[in-house]
Amino acid sequence: MELINELIARAKANKQRIVLPEGTEERTLKAADRLLADEVADLILIGNPDEIKALANEYGLKHIKKACIVDPKNNEKKDTYATLMYELRKNKGVTLEKAYEFVEDPLFLGCLMIKNGDADGEVAGARNTTGNVLRSAFQIVKTAPGVSVVSGAFLMFLPKKEYGDDGLMIFADCAVLPNPNAQELAQIAVSTAKTARDIAGIEPRIAMLSFSTKGSASHEMVDKVREATRIAKEMEPDLKIDGEMQTDAAIVPLVGASKAPGSEIAGHANVLVFPSLEVGNIAYKLVQRLAGADAVGPILQGIAAPVNDLSRGCSVDDIYKMVAITCNQSISLKK
Ligand code: ACO
Repeated sequence: MELINELIARAKANKQRIVLPEGTEERTLKAADRLLADEVADLILIGNPDEIKALANEYGLKHIKKACIVDPKNNEKKDTYATLMYELRKNKGVTLEKAYEFVEDPLFLGCLMIKNGDADGEVAGARNTTGNVLRSAFQIVKTAPGVSVVSGAFLMFLPKKEYGDDGLMIFADCAVLPNPNAQELAQIAVSTAKTARDIAGIEPRIAMLSFSTKGSASHEMVDKVREATRIAKEMEPDLKIDGEMQTDAAIVPLVGASKAPGSEIAGHANVLVFPSLEVGNIAYKLVQRLAGADAVGPILQGIAAPVNDLSRGCSVDDIYKMVAITCNQSISLKK
């Protein structure tokens, strides 16, 4: 987990403004207090100021006073945000009156602050479902230029150091797109390569996973993965990527050499791209629970400004790390 310390150090050296829409949530407040004490980021907490101050007192948090607190019901930029919401969503049937209701929703307000240039990134989800966190981000912040879909990656820190890069692997998509088509799957691979370089600091070797290796089985699901591999190579010709491939062929050198001879990825993959969300979500949780991996994420990739979702079961430490990751995404986006 040396990488996390590096990410924290990088965040401290170039402080970003991160908005936390769940400003009255206990773990969020405790993480915010530590982040402010350690000067990792400038924080904006959304919530009723009196309630936030009372909770900070109750939990004995001494640094919350350094945060900027924005009241969703009553803040000086409410008209600006409502107008922005209206402009962004009027073609989807949002009236100005409805826009004023949206800006009182902390998740929408957080994204509008990013869109208006008042924040660099957002972390939420300790209290809200993934769907709600994602939907506000998709509607307001939208995808980065040239990116068709947003997806979610996990940094997997494995106890077995022989896999990936010294035990570090990246899994995607484990959080967003239920059933990607070949084009979308290719985009997931390309976005995950960027996350590997920008956040994990590793050069990606991507395996596009399936239940078949190089034509050992035929099925339309296999065709989709093969087609996605072809499109990803077209999108980024220098990308080190191969597929379709089974997991053992992707990560075990002996199996890779026998099932996919000549492949520079087989047996040595450090990025695994799953054919659907069902597989990706189940796989990361299995590896986390049964193999004892530390799973950090989901890191949302392909979005115009970093917005990251937390599990509702997250710890204070998870929130702290995710804010540091969000800062790093913002720093690399600005480069
Ligand atoms: N990338 C970019 N934009 C997207 C994406 C995407 N992957 N998916 C939807 N959108 C856009 C739509 O185009 C739409 O834009 P528009 O309104 O400007 O036209 C907007 O987002 C909202 O779309 P909806 O139709 O309202 O939302 P949808 O029903 O597509 O749901 C959602 C999107 C909520 C993200 C859905 O895909 C979902 O629920 N995914 C699974 C999330 C989940 O439960 N993950 C597992 C748990 S996470 C974990 O375990 C770590």
